[in-house]
Amino acid sequence: MTEPDDETLSALAHTGEQDVEVTLRPKKLGEFIGQPRVREQLELVLESARRRGVPPDHVLLSGPPGLGKTSMAMIIAAELGSALRITSGPALERAGDLAAMLSNLAPGDVLFIDEIHRIARPAEEMLYLAMEDFRVDVVVGKGPGATSIPLEIAPFTLVGATTRSGALTGPLRDRFGFTGQMEFYSDDELDQVVRRAARILDIEIDPLGSAEIARRSRGTPRIANRLLRRVRDYAEVRADGVATKQVVRAALEVYDVDELGLDRLDRAVLGALVKSFGGGPVGVSTLAVAVGEEPTTVEEVCEPYLVRAGMLARTPRGRVATAAAWEHLGLQPPERVLPDPGLFDQP
Ligand SMILES: Nc1ncnc2c1ncn2[C@@H]1O[C@H](COP(=O)(O)OP(=O)(O)O)[C@@H](O)[C@H]1O
Ligand SMILES: [Mg+2]
Repeated sequence: MTEPDDETLSALAHTGEQDVEVTLRPKKLGEFIGQPRVREQLELVLESARRRGVPPDHVLLSGPPGLGKTSMAMIIAAELGSALRITSGPALERAGDLAAMLSNLAPGDVLFIDEIHRIARPAEEMLYLAMEDFRVDVVVGKGPGATSIPLEIAPFTLVGATTRSGALTGPLRDRFGFTGQMEFYSDDELDQVVRRAARILDIEIDPLGSAEIARRSRGTPRIANRLLRRVRDYAEVRADGVATKQVVRAALEVYDVDELGLDRLDRAVLGALVKSFGGGPVGVSTLAVAVGEEPTTVEEVCEPYLVRAGMLARTPRGRVATAAAWEHLGLQPPERVLPDPGLFDQP
């Protein structure tokens, strides 16, 4: 994805966008819109730890990009009144990197590891002991003379975030006391997200306008906030500054966001599935090659919403387009498009 237009709808954060995201991030559990289940469960975990005067169990947050995992990690630290240390799986290439991070923790700190499924093996193994016993074994020297020195670390809470909880190893997953599964947001929740962001960014939007943005945000707050900013640009340049429903519709047309909020990559995936592979089943790697994307991008960024929108099914034999997908592309679905329900294997 190189053209800026293609990025408008991607659920991934873009470079240069961090500042706005920081402004728009909810700072307290009470400010966090949606995810009622995860919020209630977390409230209990945090409150109980607070009463017992110990750091809470390690928390894993899982779900597609842009649903609020990083925001939630920051909220956990804020609610505990603890310092937050941030790193990511890909940054922890060597166990030494993690050892340095862990040995610098103060009691009660929250350590946030984003994309934790991408952590290197040696660092992951070090993490097991750290999570369980608040201890690391630092290996000094090489070969037969190498010794391992146990090092105490401060009791801390690990918050891990992942877009692929299935890619986590069993031992790592087992060491989290609580897993919050973040779900796509309802239109109503996204409407609240949009109105809140409009307030913060001082954008004038009417109720039908915000509902229209919400409906086309693919269940994802990051996308809702981004569309709002594109709509603001349009409203300021081509209209009188107010984001009405008409303005929203016209703006999203410019940015290639369709009626359902699907972007170019979504439509490319559906198009390839339907036109090149007759509706499937086809393997995700083949599908990714057909649209010129990485399989992980198709799998983690694109597919979750297509599945939830009922247009794509993941079956043991590959990806399959549903009748809704054919219809969305303006095509007549063949007689039998849906596989037997028994074939469905959705995570
Ligand atoms: N529940 C929410 N309420 C309001 N805004 C939210 C919410 N969740 C996410 N956002 C917005 O979406 C952006 C992306 O959220 P983030 O926590 O970075 O998602 P993730 O880490 O899951 O990719 C945030 O900067 C914030 O503006
Ligand atoms: Mg994040």
